[in-house]
Amino acid sequence: MASRKPAKDQPGSFNWTTENQTWCDSQIKKYPQGRENSCVIPFLWRGQKQEGWISIAMMEAIARQLDMPYIRVYEVASFYTMFNLAPVGAFYVQLCGTTPCMLRGAHDLREVAKKVIGPENQVSDDGKLSWLEVECLGACCNAPMVQISTNDSDHYYEDLTPEKFEDLLGKLRRGEEVKPGTQNAQRHTSDPEGDNTTLTDTSLYDGSRAQPLKEIPNAAPLAPAE
Ligand code: FES
Repeated sequence: MASRKPAKDQPGSFNWTTENQTWCDSQIKKYPQGRENSCVIPFLWRGQKQEGWISIAMMEAIARQLDMPYIRVYEVASFYTMFNLAPVGAFYVQLCGTTPCMLRGAHDLREVAKKVIGPENQVSDDGKLSWLEVECLGACCNAPMVQISTNDSDHYYEDLTPEKFEDLLGKLRRGEEVKPGTQNAQRHTSDPEGDNTTLTDTSLYDGSRAQPLKEIPNAAPLAPAE
């Protein structure tokens, strides 16, 4: 699990970019007067996307902006594991270790992460990568998988093998293009590998088995469509 304590090294200040300040101003207007602090999660998420992680200075700025106590912002940021309270790599790898992924080789992926990136929760020396083991990310049918986040994207990479994962990390490190989604060339998204194995009888859905509608005795006439 990501550290839920603020990093030791903290920046002295935090400022929104002009674009994000404009976005914040537009979001606050969505909430009723006096309920502006409901913006705290979107603000923290936007701040994390801006800086890569959430510093104390950022939480203090958000607290002032939403007119709420700093401790309330800290409570939210430290509760949800999607918020990073310490710096992460430019490519932040969340490796699913829950049962379906574990049964399909997540242990081996973890060894690759340790070898290529280093210890969990530590940014690699070049600042490009860090990794963390997380619980199910909801893509079990394409296990094993990882989510890799940058400041402007969150993509899944699925059907990984140790070799494919190592290759993927190497490409990210070198700035080469990578393709999100399944890494199994025999699969399209989460379709079965190879040909379809179910619903292969086209008459099930091509309309050839459709029956004429039967009239229901004494039924009220249908209202005309508007
Ligand atoms: S167990 Fe890994 S995505 Fe669900």
